[in-house]
Amino acid sequence: MNGWDMRRIEVSRTDHMFAASVKPETSALEKVRKLEVTMPDTITLTDNRTGKQYELPLVNGNIRASDLRQVKVEDTDFGMMSYDPGYSNTASCQSSVTDLDGEAGILRYRGYPIEQLAEKCTFLEVAYLLLHGELPDESQRLNWELQVKHHTMLHEKTKQLMSGFNYDAHPMGVFISSIAALSTFYRDAKDVDDPECRLLQVTRLIGKTPTIASYAYRNSRGLPYIYPDNDLSYTANFLNMMHRMVEPRYQTDPVLERALDVLFILHADHEQNCSTSTMRNIASSLSDPFVSTAGAAAALYGPLHGGANEAVLRMLKDIATPDRVPDYIARVKKGEMRLMGFGHRIYKSYDPRARIIKKTAYDVFEVTGKNPLIDVALELERIALDDDYFVSRSLYPNVDFYSGLIYEAMGFPTSIFTVLFAIPRTAGWLAQWMELMEDPELRIARPRQDYIGGGVRDVPRREDRAA
Ligand code: CMC
Repeated sequence: MNGWDMRRIEVSRTDHMFAASVKPETSALEKVRKLEVTMPDTITLTDNRTGKQYELPLVNGNIRASDLRQVKVEDTDFGMMSYDPGYSNTASCQSSVTDLDGEAGILRYRGYPIEQLAEKCTFLEVAYLLLHGELPDESQRLNWELQVKHHTMLHEKTKQLMSGFNYDAHPMGVFISSIAALSTFYRDAKDVDDPECRLLQVTRLIGKTPTIASYAYRNSRGLPYIYPDNDLSYTANFLNMMHRMVEPRYQTDPVLERALDVLFILHADHEQNCSTSTMRNIASSLSDPFVSTAGAAAALYGPLHGGANEAVLRMLKDIATPDRVPDYIARVKKGEMRLMGFGHRIYKSYDPRARIIKKTAYDVFEVTGKNPLIDVALELERIALDDDYFVSRSLYPNVDFYSGLIYEAMGFPTSIFTVLFAIPRTAGWLAQWMELMEDPELRIARPRQDYIGGGVRDVPRREDRAA
């Protein structure tokens, strides 16, 4: 496409007026997008090997990687690809679920700032928003809550299956396996082309993840499973299934119930991170949502992703007192280890979720008493944010830095922390899955490679092979 696209300029003007009237806060990314629509929407590439020029169309300011294939030295060449280990600069999809501007420290679900959602909504309302694009009205909210509660029970055989794990099995391993096992109970889930069927599986998964999480924990403690109490809210019921002992009815503290709800909201989605991309990758082969969610949870398990909250707490316990922080920081700077809960691929400023979690920690400590490790965390943050190593690399506390302190104060064992991340993230994975299933550009995920091995050679006889 050549020249100026007047239609797009018009759209841009309308957008701009709208932006000025109702959205005073404009992210850096939005400013770039607005600038782009007043410019030609092609880019010219010169191949210095051949002197040839290529005019590539821009889609929302980006090139399509497949357009690079026309760049060749010889006609018989395969054509150029982009090389991007870790996909740090590759948009794998177009999505309208979550908007993340790492430079400006902005996170929005469906356009709503995370700070407002954490203040004004429940987790289930936010899950509905992620899945359907709008917050529910009162009757939609009541119906949605009813639907989710209707699906909190597990098939007794799932329960038996979970009892088969060893007493010291990591709850995250049990969680991943049990979510995958649901695929064998709900075989209708294979009908991924049917929107109604998709919604049923989504409701099942959001209803059952807290039950599976709590059973994984109780199994590790040798405690009997507690059936869901559907008179309670989503988070109160989860606390009930985790902590109830012999009392006839478990009483949650409203501050702790709300704190957990806020943590669930903050963890619900984060666009194309490692686990969400895994979800989309698996689902692109039209696998059912249970096995896709299990795969996403497996990606979350690693210490560089959702496993970091567990690693942070181990690190804080290891440091133990604030006076030992400078030594620890020195070791991090020498490259002996990473400062867990610090740094992010996208955020190059303070993670907005960490700010909310830090405040929530103090609300929780009002009820539970202060977790003494908060002093170690605060000292780590203070020293790191003043140190050139961290400042020059834009390393700030991320969502996992303070969350573990809250979980521990609320009586959760460290081994369950990543499961606490997986419960709400299931809503995000599923929202992204629903979007993918309706994407007209859906194709099986199949990246290319840059082959760097040797050329063809003959297979030697066994006796001729070098030792
Ligand atoms: N401590 C010390 N140095 C770090 C850290 C850290 N936590 N994170 C990054 N760096 C350094 C890294 O060594 C590198 O330095 P250099 O340029 O001298 O080689 C530079 O910063 C860039 O690091 P990178 O590994 O290229 O960054 P990345 O975008 O690939 O990694 C990350 C992002 C989150 C994996 C990484 O920051 C990290 O390992 N953080 C600790 C684990 C953690 O807290 N993960 C939770 C992420 S938030 C929750 C979630 O969504 O998963």
